[in-house]
Amino acid sequence: MAGLFITFEGIDGSGKSTQAKVLADTLRDEGHDVILTREPGGSPGAEEIRTLVLEGDPDRWSAQTELLLFTAARRDHLERLIDPALAAGKIVICDRFADSSRIYQGSRSGDLRAMVDALHTLMIGREPDLTFVIDMDPDTGHSRAKGRGGTEERFEDFGAGLQAQMREGFLDLALEYADRCVVVDGGRAIESVAADVAQIARNRLG
Ligand code: ADP
Ligand code: TYD
Repeated sequence: MAGLFITFEGIDGSGKSTQAKVLADTLRDEGHDVILTREPGGSPGAEEIRTLVLEGDPDRWSAQTELLLFTAARRDHLERLIDPALAAGKIVICDRFADSSRIYQGSRSGDLRAMVDALHTLMIGREPDLTFVIDMDPDTGHSRAKGRGGTEERFEDFGAGLQAQMREGFLDLALEYADRCVVVDGGRAIESVAADVAQIARNRLG
């Protein structure tokens, strides 16, 4: 039995973590075996790399070095958690995955998309079965993300301008991978967004 790999993408503060958790709870209540995980992180080694990339000065790493760190974290996460869970027939729900590298590292500092894709082919090679792109006004997303506080603010410190650029990137990506991506309007009440997400996931599960 093959599992199902579902990812959530979108700008910071769009509600990905909230929606991933609600979907995991909903599908578990409906009898599915669900693993809820996140990137960067999701395995002990990848969580260590998470601290390196999300804390400290915005200019701590170049976009290229950052890409290598995110890819190393993703490879560990894939080997230790995602691949074994899918092989066991589970539903894996992941808060961000390779699309985030395509958008953030691929367009943050010039056009590195070809490098991101080459490294993905070489080291990761897996695409999700279903990707929710949670779309959100960048200013609202930025203030929601800043409102959370904490120390993992390196990307938020790039500012709302980056968020606007990333939003466009995710919408373009949804067109590029139209077979697996669904854009959901995140600027609504949590329950309304969750109802749409659950229905789309159920349809995909058949
Ligand atoms: P992301 O994972 O995309 O960064 P989160 O799920 O962490 O976003 O949400 C960011 C903040 O916004 C959290 O404080 C969360 O409670 C809140 N939030 C999430 N979804 C909504 C929503 N639909 N309406 C209002 N606030 C929300
Ligand atoms: P995350 O913890 O999901 O932040 P948020 O909940 O605010 O959306 O991710 C932290 C940051 O890491 C986010 O700004 C995007 C960035 N990121 C990349 O740049 N590349 C990647 O491959 C991933 C997975 C995340």
